[in-house]
Amino acid sequence: MMLDQTASSGPASARPVSIVKTERRPDGVAVITLDDPAEPLNTITPALAGELTAAVDAAFGDASVRAVVLRSGKKDSFLAGANIDFVRSIRFAQDAEEASREVARRFERLATGPKPVVAYVHGSALGGGFELALACTAAVATDDPKTTLGLPEVKLGLIPAANGLFRVAERAGLRVALDLGTTGRSLRPKAALRLGLVDDVVPVTSGLETAVRFALRLADEPGHARSLAKKRRRRGVMKQLERALLEDNPLGRLALFRKARAEALNKTHGHYPAAERIVDLLARFGARGFHAAAELEPRMFADLVVSETAHRLIDLFFAQTALKKDSGLAPGERAAAFPVERVAVLGAGFMGAGIAAVSARAGLEVRMKDTDDAAVGRGLRYVKDLLDGRARRGSMTALERDAAFARLSGAIDYTGLRNADVIVEAVFEDLALKHAVIRDVEARVRDTCVIASNTSSIPIARIAEAASRPEMVVGMHYFSPVHKMPLLEVIRTKASDPRAVATAVALGKKQGKTVIVVNDGPAFYTTRILVPYLNEAAHLLTEGASIEAVDAAMVDWGFPVGPFQLMDEVGIDLGVHVGEVTEAAFGARMRLPEAFAALRADDRKGKKNARGFYLYGSAAPRKKSVDATVYDVLRIAPKPNAVAADQIALRCALAMVNESLRCHGDGVLGSARDGDVGAILGVGFPAFRGGPLRYVDALGTTEVLRRLRSLEQSFGARFEPAPLLVEMARAGKRLYG
Ligand code: NAI
Repeated sequence: MMLDQTASSGPASARPVSIVKTERRPDGVAVITLDDPAEPLNTITPALAGELTAAVDAAFGDASVRAVVLRSGKKDSFLAGANIDFVRSIRFAQDAEEASREVARRFERLATGPKPVVAYVHGSALGGGFELALACTAAVATDDPKTTLGLPEVKLGLIPAANGLFRVAERAGLRVALDLGTTGRSLRPKAALRLGLVDDVVPVTSGLETAVRFALRLADEPGHARSLAKKRRRRGVMKQLERALLEDNPLGRLALFRKARAEALNKTHGHYPAAERIVDLLARFGARGFHAAAELEPRMFADLVVSETAHRLIDLFFAQTALKKDSGLAPGERAAAFPVERVAVLGAGFMGAGIAAVSARAGLEVRMKDTDDAAVGRGLRYVKDLLDGRARRGSMTALERDAAFARLSGAIDYTGLRNADVIVEAVFEDLALKHAVIRDVEARVRDTCVIASNTSSIPIARIAEAASRPEMVVGMHYFSPVHKMPLLEVIRTKASDPRAVATAVALGKKQGKTVIVVNDGPAFYTTRILVPYLNEAAHLLTEGASIEAVDAAMVDWGFPVGPFQLMDEVGIDLGVHVGEVTEAAFGARMRLPEAFAALRADDRKGKKNARGFYLYGSAAPRKKSVDATVYDVLRIAPKPNAVAADQIALRCALAMVNESLRCHGDGVLGSARDGDVGAILGVGFPAFRGGPLRYVDALGTTEVLRRLRSLEQSFGARFEPAPLLVEMARAGKRLYG
């Protein structure tokens, strides 16, 4: 089954109106349309599955019907998968197992019915939607950019549960099934056609008629279905020989699955079992065939549905979905965003060019300004390379790429700003420069133009001091690299006009970001919680723990990279600078160990100047290796097993968790939800733990308090529990209701 990737409201029981309608055409084709009137998207619910089966059975039993076409009545989506509210409401594994068996049985009826069924796929066919299309005799997809096909269950800690994995493997091979299942990535229609996962790709205008003709041909020529199956296998990306060597013999399969298992573990560190279950299932399919694997699938699905990991990932999905609809304003606050069509970006550096790229891609006119032609040229080149990459990978057409690039222009002066709706400044991190830039642009833009700063550490209120309209100044804190990182942190000051805040949020959403709004303060939210975490890693180093040990402990705990690798990536100089800002604001608990001052003198900036905690450049070995000379610079000698891995994880993680609680207590965060989404998407807090604040609820406030007190006793005031935690423990409260 599975996956509604957008919101779906309310459980799906007691529906008064029908979801499935059948039109019997004079040519003998029954067109069955799925259109759930209660939801923006079709999702698989017991009601939809029941009605669909009844409609298909009626068509099969009707002598005047020769073939069936299945389509969606929704504008831009076919079937988004299982209704996640329904999945989340399942309490017992046995219920999940039964639900999965039932849906698989119903889909099987399509695959083995007496008449051909053609899926006409326009819009997203994800999870159960894709599985449904795969179960049909054939599938015709539109070439529309909205049409995507995939099995994203793994992203929610689940597995496909209606035999879709095995149908992909039958057609395109085990390797493709492993890839689609364990990454959850989706395919554009042409890629699906090349893999034999759909049978034709057609324009929307003639799509339905093509599907109808396809269905009639299948009905009229009994051999056509067989020749289709042959054609699909031939279309698979793997050449026949390769497939025979690797997949059709036990030794080849053993090697294939050993590699897939190692890759899954390497990525998940055992924290996300769904990927491993997918490998297990496909191994069974390879060894014992469709039915043996299909027999096991519902049980595996059921165990995952009731697991903590899936619950946390689904909570995160709901939180992100809620944020998509959120205006970003405080409860009860009302203000309309200004329309945004034109954006100007000041600074064509690393961040500015990234912001320009996501803006142009979102259909906005973009002006990028820097101080000289060379810098502007570099920025334009960067955007061009990004857009070219997307076109190459098929996630945009050449035409879309050209149109996006045509919307972008560069300048070394302030011409063309008069019409800008939003200005995002991404010049050097220097308050005087930011002030000068704000004064310059304010004189040239309309009164309603929102001026946003991408500063990583300067409080927005300080930046706004130079503005004559401080109410139009907000922070838009993007993460690097901008085109990849999903989060945008919008920062509002006490003076910010709610319309400016709403505009920044709306712009971020257009750019494809998940947007949280936080209140202004030193280092805002995400950077602020990162500082004590990185500092704690530094303290551990001074106690003799090695760089490898600290990084490995945190990766094992679930972070995507360890703290030292992260410092290298973001820039040690930037980290030290932000550390100084937070220490000035919050005092000694944010202080970096003295020894680390030596890094600046040694010009260690991290990856960007190839001088960091790890080795870079041509001298670096293939395996990521620590640059041992950094210990000399710090005057530290690492000792094996100086600190146990669980202690490392406890200290670093709780340093971040405690700061997150402080931010919530200080009113920086509007909600625990925003704090969790921000930490997961912005700084890599393990998603399966639900975020730092969910983690507090899961462990219990009293237990978190006990652990922090014990760390405070051993290591001092930097672990002093956040006042909010103390208060909650006393009152027996939780962060989430
Ligand atoms: P960068 O050094 O790559 O780019 C800064 C650009 O601003 C340069 O091209 C420079 O020529 C240009 N510039 C300087 N004065 C200017 C002016 N008067 N008008 C127009 N352009 C001017 O720096 P980067 O990394 O892009 O950072 C920019 C801002 O983004 C900083 O405030 C930084 O703190 C912030 N930031 C950086 C992140 C990162 O990971 N690099 C992450 C989040 C925020």
